[in-house]
Amino acid sequence: MKISVYPTSDYVEDRDIKDRIVVVIDVLRATSTIITALYNGCKEVIPTADIESAVNISKNYERDGFILGGERNAVKIEGFHLSNSPREYSRERVENKTVLITTTNGTKAITRAVDAKEVVLASFINISAVYEYIAAAGSDIAIICAGTMGKFSADDILVAGALIKGLEDKGISPELDDLGMVAKRIYLNSKDDLHGALSETLHYSILKDLGLQGDLDDCLKLDTAPIVPIYSDGVARA
Ligand code: MLT
Repeated sequence: MKISVYPTSDYVEDRDIKDRIVVVIDVLRATSTIITALYNGCKEVIPTADIESAVNISKNYERDGFILGGERNAVKIEGFHLSNSPREYSRERVENKTVLITTTNGTKAITRAVDAKEVVLASFINISAVYEYIAAAGSDIAIICAGTMGKFSADDILVAGALIKGLEDKGISPELDDLGMVAKRIYLNSKDDLHGALSETLHYSILKDLGLQGDLDDCLKLDTAPIVPIYSDGVARA
């Protein structure tokens, strides 16, 4: 199994993903939020790269049938129901609804992967379910990290490392590219104190300064939402 890791979606060429399962990671916070919404029973999630598309698609739904969610610069978009905090996507709020979500980097990375063989959404909260799924699939994979403000982000790389370590624990010896090797090394050095490893990094600090420590706590927990969301034809479903 070959594994290539991309620091942001801007580094990805069509040929990199065409024949691979793509795993998209935006642990802070888009994939954590989408996974939480699906785990809490929403019907489907439609990620869009821009605000206008989310609003336009919402016009196809009954007033009570959808939730508009997302952020720009980590803050809720004006007129939207919810921001990009996983804690807002409770069962009471999302069950049986369609969630339309747009975020600064995460939904851009997801929609970038649309032409892949298959697209899986990952975070720490579903990491074991994802590596079990990938191990069983046996295909080469491309891991696309969402990054932060268009740049490499340490939080996503830690999840990439956890995925690689999980596959190795299952007896798979993946052929890693350089960023895959670095991701695994950083994860092994950080796994016992994820908060400590990230405390001075950009995205962690932004969310902390906004008073979102609860989101950081939830996003860095392991396996609290053990599902495998697949994104296909513009829609993510569990
Ligand atoms: C993003 O897509 O850039 C993030 O999910 C930002 C955030 O923390 O809301």
